[in-house]
Amino acid sequence: MKLLVVGSGGREHALLWALKREQPDAVLLAAPGNAGTALVATNLPIPADQIPDLVDAAVRERVDLVIIGPEGPLALGLADRLRGRGIPTFGPSGAAARIEASKAWSKEVMVAAGVPTAASRTFATLAPALAYIDSHPEPLVVKASGLAAGKGAVVCATRAEAASAARAMLDTRIFGDAGDEVVVEAFLEGEELSVLALTNGTEVAILPPAQDHKRLQEGDRGPNTGGMGAYSPVALDTAALRAMVTTRVLEPTLAEMARRGAPFSGVLYAGLMVDRSGNPSVVEFNCRFGDPETQVILPRIASGLVDALGACARGSRLPEVTIDPSAAVTTVLAARGYPDQPERGAEITIPDDLPDGALVFHAGTRRDEAGILRAAGGRVLAVTGVGATFAAAQTISRAAAERITFDGKQFRRDIGWREAARR
Ligand SMILES: Nc1ncnc2c1ncn2[C@@H]1O[C@H](COP(=O)(O)OP(=O)(O)O)[C@@H](O)[C@H]1O
Ligand SMILES: [Mg+2]
Repeated sequence: MKLLVVGSGGREHALLWALKREQPDAVLLAAPGNAGTALVATNLPIPADQIPDLVDAAVRERVDLVIIGPEGPLALGLADRLRGRGIPTFGPSGAAARIEASKAWSKEVMVAAGVPTAASRTFATLAPALAYIDSHPEPLVVKASGLAAGKGAVVCATRAEAASAARAMLDTRIFGDAGDEVVVEAFLEGEELSVLALTNGTEVAILPPAQDHKRLQEGDRGPNTGGMGAYSPVALDTAALRAMVTTRVLEPTLAEMARRGAPFSGVLYAGLMVDRSGNPSVVEFNCRFGDPETQVILPRIASGLVDALGACARGSRLPEVTIDPSAAVTTVLAARGYPDQPERGAEITIPDDLPDGALVFHAGTRRDEAGILRAAGGRVLAVTGVGATFAAAQTISRAAAERITFDGKQFRRDIGWREAARR
């Protein structure tokens, strides 16, 4: 079996690691991959947004299944193009990827499907947006509708802040076309939880939920990032919550998308806000695996991943995915200057006697001409600890994160602090 994973981050390294673990004999390819994916797969030097080149490579290599990691190529229709050439592909069509790529459309779908989410209005021009903001209770949230690399949502304490955010998006156009439409919505109280579900379009299989840590600094302070760490399981996750998420969120969303001619298959990621009574509202949907959630979810899948990805790709019955009861915590090691202006090029040293249960997933890494491992992106590595308990996993992840060195390394020592507080 030959599998191709598109993308070059920690998520893609974790996917390839999990595929290899389950199917040691499979031939694995990554495009373009990183220095970590090269340890388990052959890297093809094709950027993830080069759609025709990716399709040609998949055809030439006679790939049995393509798994698309990032949202960018999904929104560009890579899955449609691959399926058009007869290649089974895990990931939604370009039309269905709008559930992430257009927050405005995603809100329309949720409202039509009766899915709980913050009350909102969408604007394409500034004056009505400002008028709406002017009458909106504080705090409130202003979001660029399109893909903005995780920078497009601004939580505003005051109407004045919201007005300037809307102006920056609609007038100054700081996010370009991604800010053609702006969603203004009510602030939701609660705790966030990432619930990822595999789906063939109708059936859903919820994967172990995870919680990520968006802020750069300990205590959830500092700027927002792509994610500085994550853990799973999360005590917030209960059977009752999963039942609600399935029947009130995932199933109605999939049905409404199909009704609109955009049936979804792949992994539907519901970013939830869970309130004090345990009721979930959707903050946003993503159309792909989360990063760094994947680095704690996949190590907990005991069996059935490859078959499930294949079933989603082919639209056939979902097989059972079995979950390991162990806990996983991942700590992201970022470069100096991340998230604004990450420095590249620092030499990375990974000791070969890291604690048992430590998994090092590469995110932004490359090997130079001399074979030296170097930082090549804002998030450099994600260090996952797997242990019998949350505390054990946290200790392993943190100890390994301490021992890996590169100049300018930034990381949080408090990943999972909410879980620790709950226990
Ligand atoms: N309505 C809301 N209420 C409270 N917090 C929110 C709300 N919308 C977004 N946020 C916060 O902003 C973050 C980013 O928003 P999100 O909609 O996930 O956009 P993106 O991930 O595309 O940047 C969320 O993870 C959450 O912390
Ligand atoms: Mg988000």
